[in-house]
Amino acid sequence: MDLRLDGTTALITGAGSGIGRATALALAAEGVRVALLDRDAAALRDTARSCADAVLLAADVTAEEQVASAVAAGVDALGGLDAVVCCAGVSGPVGTPVEQTALEDWNRVLAVNVTGAFLVLKHALPALRKAAAASVVLLASDSAVVASPGMAPYCASKAALVQFGRALSVDLAGTGVRVNTVAPSIVDTPMSRGDLGIEAFAEPGFPVQTAAEVAAHVAYLVSPRSRAVNGTTLLSDFGYTARSGFPA
Ligand SMILES: NC(=O)c1ccc[n+]([C@@H]2O[C@H](COP(=O)([O-])OP(=O)(O)OC[C@H]3O[C@@H](n4cnc5c(N)ncnc54)[C@H](O)[C@@H]3O)[C@@H](O)[C@H]2O)c1
Repeated sequence: MDLRLDGTTALITGAGSGIGRATALALAAEGVRVALLDRDAAALRDTARSCADAVLLAADVTAEEQVASAVAAGVDALGGLDAVVCCAGVSGPVGTPVEQTALEDWNRVLAVNVTGAFLVLKHALPALRKAAAASVVLLASDSAVVASPGMAPYCASKAALVQFGRALSVDLAGTGVRVNTVAPSIVDTPMSRGDLGIEAFAEPGFPVQTAAEVAAHVAYLVSPRSRAVNGTTLLSDFGYTARSGFPA
């Protein structure tokens, strides 16, 4: 299927690794000119090797001045903006009870995962509103609806991101800017390998998806093929949350 993305533009945060990098490659392969934002400049250069004519934006999504100038530079270099994909994220404490969670860790997770997306979109929206048909995709997680023990900050941040996306889609109704969220279960990336250990992925006893598979969901939601899809969440979890506890 032709996603009709050729010749469009997109800004992707967290583009230095994992799902952000896979999204950059997937969109570039569809003919999208991409602006790549990450706090890790060296990682951005690695991603850019596989994306034609990419614009590199080194910035921390939690720092408003950095975000404002990076987004402005990206829009300027791309000559406009048709899509934003927010992938920058951190997992924070794993296996830590709430009473042992440091305020600093709680604040950091919320700052990157929620405030970071808010800041990027706050500064990108003027350009997105000018596009003929714009799309925003936020990378949440199945942790927005289910929880593993000891990950309360991450779970809270992803639920907040889902509702931020829904609220933004309502704010932007009628403007031509759509907002959707993708919520995958475990994806094989440096983040999940860091949290679970590399050995957990050798013969995993849990379903694992690839970053490229998640990027395909993102590409569909960026595409005008999904123009009727707005304010929703694509839960990509192998059906795990569909199962009732009813013992039938
Ligand atoms: N890996 C999974 O199992 C999984 C599952 C569901 C959702 N997600 C979500 O998908 C997104 C991408 O995760 P990933 O697995 O690709 O992680 P990753 O660690 O491989 O990549 C995250 C990228 O975000 C960047 N980043 C982090 N903090 C930043 C900041 N303050 N400013 C700018 N850039 C920053 C990092 O430098 C890195 O390049 C995250 O939001 C994550 O929560 C991941």
